[in-house]
Amino acid sequence: MESKSALQNRVEVAVRVRPQFIEADACCVTCKKDSLEMVNHRDYTQNIKYKFTTVFDADSTQDDVYKTFVAPKLDKVFNGKNMSVLAYGATGTGKTYTMIGTSDKPGIVPQALRDLFQTIETATNGMHTYRMKLSFLEIYNEKVIDLLIVSKSDLQIWEDTNKNIIVHRLSVKEIASYEEFESIFLPAMSQRTTVSSNLNSHSSRSHTILMVIIEKTQVYSPFRTSVSKIQFVDLAGSENNKLSGNKGLRMRESSCINKSLFVLHEVVDAVRSGQKRIPYRDSKLTRLLQDSFGGRSSALLLATIAPEERCYYNTYCTLNFATKSKKIVNNPAPCQEDHACDPNLNVDNLQLDVVKEPVSSDISVGNASGNTSGSSIASPTSVDLEYARELLQVIKERSRTLRTTMEKENHSEKNKETTGGRYISNTGNIIDSISKTENSETLRLCPRSSSSRVTFDMEKQSHNENQMSNNTLTRNAGILKNIENSTPLRPIPTRKCHSEIRKRRYSETDIVVSDSSKDDEILIKHRHKTHKNHILCLLNSENKADILLLHTVGTRRANLIYNWQQKHGPFQKVEDLYQILDLGEKYVSTFMHRNFLHFDEENMDSGC
Ligand SMILES: Nc1ncnc2c1ncn2[C@@H]1O[C@H](COP(=O)(O)OP(=O)(O)O)[C@@H](O)[C@H]1O
Ligand SMILES: [Mg+2]
Repeated sequence: MESKSALQNRVEVAVRVRPQFIEADACCVTCKKDSLEMVNHRDYTQNIKYKFTTVFDADSTQDDVYKTFVAPKLDKVFNGKNMSVLAYGATGTGKTYTMIGTSDKPGIVPQALRDLFQTIETATNGMHTYRMKLSFLEIYNEKVIDLLIVSKSDLQIWEDTNKNIIVHRLSVKEIASYEEFESIFLPAMSQRTTVSSNLNSHSSRSHTILMVIIEKTQVYSPFRTSVSKIQFVDLAGSENNKLSGNKGLRMRESSCINKSLFVLHEVVDAVRSGQKRIPYRDSKLTRLLQDSFGGRSSALLLATIAPEERCYYNTYCTLNFATKSKKIVNNPAPCQEDHACDPNLNVDNLQLDVVKEPVSSDISVGNASGNTSGSSIASPTSVDLEYARELLQVIKERSRTLRTTMEKENHSEKNKETTGGRYISNTGNIIDSISKTENSETLRLCPRSSSSRVTFDMEKQSHNENQMSNNTLTRNAGILKNIENSTPLRPIPTRKCHSEIRKRRYSETDIVVSDSSKDDEILIKHRHKTHKNHILCLLNSENKADILLLHTVGTRRANLIYNWQQKHGPFQKVEDLYQILDLGEKYVSTFMHRNFLHFDEENMDSGC
């Protein structure tokens, strides 16, 4: 019996069926509230029934999807947990529509961002301040590209000692309002790689990941900051190259997409069956989604499908992937972390500089410059100064260590514009940020209210101490005591990552085969033929990665198949595989079975 927490931490899966676009084509799915049925292609007298938390039928609206599936879970992010919302499905099934939507029908991303800002603005208890930041990247042809800057360079993926996945030099932009979010996000969206194909006039050629980072800082001692992240992932769809009419570069893009999705399937299989080696590193996509499939993030997967008969095979594959995914149990531990420290910082120039800024008890979403309204002025005491000096020392040491590690890895290039490659430092709660000015770098400290921002300058210290003694300090003694007692060097808790071990592929409750419907013979033949053509297309591909996508085909067999078609010309039919003697007759039968193919009698006659 599965524990309650395991049930809660499963990847949540919903399915959305887009409206039927090709009226002439038959509809191959029927929807109910939490289940969906389609004809079993292995036995057309039966239906396959899939069960999911929610099924959104073709009449569902953008609001239905967001309000039912995403909005109720957003508060997790405010409790310091990471979350991912992923759209998975074949090209043209409505992933981008569901995630982004249009200006009059906004999708999950704009609606969620609006709600996040709303929550922050209405958080009235005055216990925390919030900051929101944004990163946006695409994985195109196995390259990680920053969409917030005009650069097509391939960014590297690193893992820090706490197993956080980091994209080195990925830009992070602070956003203080929904309008600011739009002004950054919309231009970045237009930088994505999209083309027009037979299946979709704006087919995404890349996987995109939008990361929204929320920093929540306690206004009172011990001034803890939790950094949580919500990622919105719009996966590129798997494509049938024959249907999409892909050639040349399009074919290569498609192969990269198909390959990364193939690895994603492998990851899901490996996590579900409790394998020791999970092939996260086999593709950039799975490396970046590591936390969402068997990791520390909670995950919502929205599978999108098309209802048309001609999309049967893709729909079938998507639903099977969705069924597998919902068996994954993540371990979304809250990440209580202190502020980040940039290893690229020139710590030797770091100074402490005292400034006084107004204190406000209002929650502010804003930048470190602390432009907040307030009535009183806070000034640092000598205790603060001593503490600050100690912290500065620790920061210098840690930054140097980080820099040395980075240099060792040949990545020492300094980039002041981006704040990527961030490492978590546990140098104490009161560090607000390290900001860079033209001539020097300043350590900014936030001793008791993050809206009261104080920075210190070692050079000016004695002057400031004199100045302070003249100040009327409006300090609360209790808070001061807490600062004195706080422990600046706290080890970061190591979070465990475990996944549940499950052996069975599907449980009886997931797929129920019923014999309620009999299929039309012509449709059956049509479906069978379409699928067989798809397999034939992969067998004849110029790219071995495509051939590798076939079930039971590894590198050796892919080479045998590729060499054969190069020598003899394209396969006319799948049964031509019998002519590759090295494959063996028994294997070809297995191949047919595992790739859901039936032997055609006329082909058997001529093929063998
Ligand atoms: N639920 C839906 N309702 C209305 N139109 C939709 C829906 N889903 C998709 N579409 C339309 O279908 C087309 C393809 O959708 P898109 O989101 O680009 O597909 P994908 O990202 O999966 O390749 C777009 O023109 C989109 O507006
Ligand atoms: Mg798309």
